Amino acid sequence: MSAKSSAPQSQAPEAGGAAGGTSPADAWWRSAVMYQVYPRSFADGNGDGEGDLLGLRERLPYLADLGVDGLWISPWFPSPMADGGYDVSDFRDIHPMFGTLADADAVLRESHDLGLRVIIDLVPNHTSDQHPWFLAALAGGPQAPERARYFFRDGRGDSGELPPNNWISAFGGPAWTRVTEPDGSPGQWYLHLFAPEQPDLDWTNHEVLEDFDEVLRFWFDRGVDGLRIDAAPAMSKKAGLPDADYGGVLQFRTVDWDDNPHWDVETVHDIFRRWRAIADTYDGDRVFVAEAVVSTAERLSNYLRPDEMHTAFNFPYLKGPWEAGALREVIDATLDSFTPRGIPSTWVLTSHDETRPVTRYGRKTTSSYFITDGEGEVPDLALGTRRARAAAMLMLALPGGAYIYQGEELGLPNVDDLPDEVLQDPMFLRSGGQMRGRDGCRVPLPWSGQEPPFGFSPQGVRPWLPQPAGWRELTVEAESADPASMLQLHRAALRLRRELPGLHETGLTWRDSPEGVLDLERGTALRCVVNLSRSPYALGSEAVLLSSSPLEDGALPVDAAAWLHVG
Ligand code: GLC
Repeated sequence: MSAKSSAPQSQAPEAGGAAGGTSPADAWWRSAVMYQVYPRSFADGNGDGEGDLLGLRERLPYLADLGVDGLWISPWFPSPMADGGYDVSDFRDIHPMFGTLADADAVLRESHDLGLRVIIDLVPNHTSDQHPWFLAALAGGPQAPERARYFFRDGRGDSGELPPNNWISAFGGPAWTRVTEPDGSPGQWYLHLFAPEQPDLDWTNHEVLEDFDEVLRFWFDRGVDGLRIDAAPAMSKKAGLPDADYGGVLQFRTVDWDDNPHWDVETVHDIFRRWRAIADTYDGDRVFVAEAVVSTAERLSNYLRPDEMHTAFNFPYLKGPWEAGALREVIDATLDSFTPRGIPSTWVLTSHDETRPVTRYGRKTTSSYFITDGEGEVPDLALGTRRARAAAMLMLALPGGAYIYQGEELGLPNVDDLPDEVLQDPMFLRSGGQMRGRDGCRVPLPWSGQEPPFGFSPQGVRPWLPQPAGWRELTVEAESADPASMLQLHRAALRLRRELPGLHETGLTWRDSPEGVLDLERGTALRCVVNLSRSPYALGSEAVLLSSSPLEDGALPVDAAAWLHVG
């Protein structure tokens, strides 16, 4: 591969204040490593088998010690949990399962005391079907003004028996559900791009807009450093709700969609401009992170204009295969599109929605464009783990921010053999078992001990999803005692990332390298080499700072990465 300097260094706007939609070049979020907490599965402080904020508070020192810069906490709001908390029934409170607002305040305070930033997850495309707004809309009948906050429409067909259009739901089946009116008659239909328990809000409605302004202020006032905006491209719909052209593929593959009437519709950007103006009235660089799976890097960068959101998850990077050419292509495409605009990238390998990397990289098909891709293949977990170690080192060497999903630092595999009866993902339920869904990456963390619940809950308590007995080798306790563990690799990489000079700069320089080898320089001291070829790669004389697998006679083995000291 030929040498090339990707996009110019440090194009970020000048330091000097956030007002007016710019942010300082050294703002924290430009290079932060954020740790995703899925609260139900992180740590159970009150002993009921479900993770909670007490458990999170007790483990904050673990996160500080790991060396991350902050946390992104998946939804902690009251929710019937029809979609793992992404069905919110009150945006201004905490789910009793997790604790209280006072506990949330304590999480914020104690995180900040440890130097950790906190981003929370806002889910604005939809509410729960148990949200008071939706209950009022149902109870009020077809003429109820409350229906205007959602998309209630009459059906097609002679007696309204067909959905208003052909839109599909992310979890399978149509995006419309018909209601029974208060008088018992079959009535209107309402739109839900996700589960039926998640009715979509109509963002052209002023009450919706104004109420969420207050939701933003509510959390910014409490001290959150930012908001992750769930399903951002879903929030605007084309006027008139015209049929979509899915090209004959009735799956929610949003990367393939152009000019879709319910995804990435231009008017969505007005909402983010409005929100940015609110965030910019606060001190301390409050940020928005977009969850936006759209068709091109160009389309994604629209969400990151100076008066919209700050950063976005890099899904093309997350979903791509373990192949040198593909990785280099997505790294270059990202930087070429973002850096000239002063936007830092984030790099991410997984989340609560994805197959865990040690499983995915141990499959024949290492890409995962859709959750079901590769499902059913038996993974080679030793191979997957080698690759996941190397992938972590590559990710943490790249310019910009990064996300680590809880348990990724332990090298947990996906739990693909959970019994059907414990599965809770609406994807499993809605697809009639065709898609197993995402529970396998949400199994509670193993902290210590020799058997379940591995310190997640007190001994004798059963966690909400069963943990495999084999996780005794993957507990925080076991890995802390093993210098070669995935956990120690993460700790070392994160420490070096803080210590090495110049890593907050944007841009990287590719060195010449043979086919299958990625060789790049960052800052003034770091060279990262990743060997995705079929034979060991000789490294030369630079001092090795860290490697994902032991070197063999000075050569980097296949599926390994090394950080070297240059300069
Ligand atoms: C996002 C979340 C996912 C959720 C969906 C609907 O993609 O990450 O977990 O199911 O939005 O809110």
